[in-house]
Amino acid sequence: MSWALHPLTEEQQEIQKLAREFAHAEIAPHAAAWDRDCHFEPTLVKKMGELGFLGMLLPEEHDGLGVDTSTYLIALEEIAAVDASVAVMMSVHNSLPTSMINRFGSDEQKKRFLKPMARGEILGAFALSEPDAGSDAAALSTQAVKDGESWVLNGAKSWVTNGSTAGAIIVMARTDASGSRKGARGIGAFIVTPDLPGFAVGKKEDKMGLRASPTVSLVLDNLRVPAGNLLGDPSQGFIYSMQSLDNGRLGIAAQAIGIARSALEHSTAYALERRQFGKPIKEFEAIQFKLADMAMRVAAARSLLHSAAAAKDRGQSITQFSAMAKLFASETAMWVTTQAVQIFGGYGYMKDYPVERLFRDAKVTEIYEGTSEIQRIVIARELYAQS
Ligand code: CAA
Repeated sequence: MSWALHPLTEEQQEIQKLAREFAHAEIAPHAAAWDRDCHFEPTLVKKMGELGFLGMLLPEEHDGLGVDTSTYLIALEEIAAVDASVAVMMSVHNSLPTSMINRFGSDEQKKRFLKPMARGEILGAFALSEPDAGSDAAALSTQAVKDGESWVLNGAKSWVTNGSTAGAIIVMARTDASGSRKGARGIGAFIVTPDLPGFAVGKKEDKMGLRASPTVSLVLDNLRVPAGNLLGDPSQGFIYSMQSLDNGRLGIAAQAIGIARSALEHSTAYALERRQFGKPIKEFEAIQFKLADMAMRVAAARSLLHSAAAAKDRGQSITQFSAMAKLFASETAMWVTTQAVQIFGGYGYMKDYPVERLFRDAKVTEIYEGTSEIQRIVIARELYAQS
């Protein structure tokens, strides 16, 4: 099956090949064991940094590759097709903390963080959600109070991808005072490094999928953050987060497409080799119809994603398109992996075959960086915003 409806540029083909070869050589042989053992492989961060995969959207002056959004998403899909846990590490790092520092950071912050982040010396994370503020992110309650040349943060953060391995975490906290709450306009974004006094990694979650990507809670107990680590305007952290999630959701869509494509490829190969009733099961219409619908949905999700990426690079607002791309791709991943397990039959339910992991990994793409319900809210609101 051809990869895309439009031809890839020479640079895109090269990066796709590089990502595919890296994923097959360095990740594929270990992916099942890392999933089984909940093992995050720290050496991957350095290796991926050396190849440029951790600074894909950063300009060359910060040691980034400076590629366009589609090229980044092409690489991400290749990694996700082999291991969605590694892909989420790469997506969060590129789309959220590095892009936020590049877009909203001071020259000093860019100088301090971006080159090491692009090189894979510092991994990035993003901490918005809290135990009582998931979909309703503006209701977060972690408090930041200015004290001399520092901000003092108190609160807890939930479900932080890369949270236990990151060297720079963008933490959102309220900067408005308890007597004069300003809602979404009363939140700041802080660059937190794990060496700061008062920072602690809390519970490591035991998850259904993405088991090789550690997800943790963070405890901020009188965490003292130097004033120089505040990102941009102290009241705009929520807005920065929403703008960045518009881009982050493209990354999650690419991850979902990688998962779905992998399930399709495994199913196509299996249907050729598996024989029942005297012939390969691909000869049965029941299987052909499934494979056809799987292939159509993967191609449609990819086309929508890359149209959204092109719109972003043209400078258009992509709030609605990124929500559509993430929603469609994540529901595609869940649907396609469900069909894949069915095609594999009894074997599909066993951990010996890859579709079982793909099915588990697909689910969270409908949940994190905004649930499918939140994406529908964003899409519907934009319909009225445009009219
Ligand atoms: N771009 C720019 N500004 C935006 C924006 C966007 N995409 N979305 C909202 N805003 C602005 C609004 O214009 C508004 O500004 P004003 O104050 O000027 O009016 C302000 O933000 C508040 O917006 P809303 O009134 O729409 O806020 P809300 O609370 O009603 O709803 C929401 C916002 C869309 C539901 C939002 O809370 C949301 O996206 N929730 C989901 C949270 C989420 O995605 N969490 C992801 C966690 S991170 C993660 O999963 C990463 C990981 O580790 C894998």
